[in-house]
Amino acid sequence: MSKLRTISCFYLAGLLALGYACQTDTSETESLPPTTGVVAGVDTLTGLIAQGDYLLVKGNCLACHSSKLITQNRATREGWLRMIRWMQHKHGLQDLGDREGPILDYLAEHYAAGDETVRRQPLEVNWYELEQ
Ligand code: HEC
Repeated sequence: MSKLRTISCFYLAGLLALGYACQTDTSETESLPPTTGVVAGVDTLTGLIAQGDYLLVKGNCLACHSSKLITQNRATREGWLRMIRWMQHKHGLQDLGDREGPILDYLAEHYAAGDETVRRQPLEVNWYELEQ
């Protein structure tokens, strides 16, 4: 009888150990940044400034390239319009319809020309003629 008890004891201990080992480890997923939401005024997934019509930009501008192309650029409203026309002409960007105005307003306000904190100015190079 005690042999049976020992065996069932080991059996139960084994089940417990198995249950413990099979627990899903959530520590890894918990340390990842959230994929949606706003932290410190910035959309966590795209890095876009989370103000105004940023969701229009998120929904219309990220099918082909990273949001970094947008957040690293600065331009006037006209400059942004030129880039949009260029993408429509050369890269199959769709007609944005009545979303174009709000998208341009957002870009011109939050990624405005004159903010030189992102891209350095072109180098001033004094070219010289090579002598033969
Ligand atoms: C249909 C595809 C597509 C969509 C949608 C798209 N783009 Fe682009 N965009 C491109 C391509 C292709 C490039 C060139 C990428 C490269 O040079 O690597 C580009 C480049 C850019 C650049 C860099 C331009 C430069 O002069 O360096 C910016 C800024 C940009 N896109 C903004 C936007 C914005 C804002 C939207 C939404 C209105 C948008 N894109 C939607 C295809 C697209």
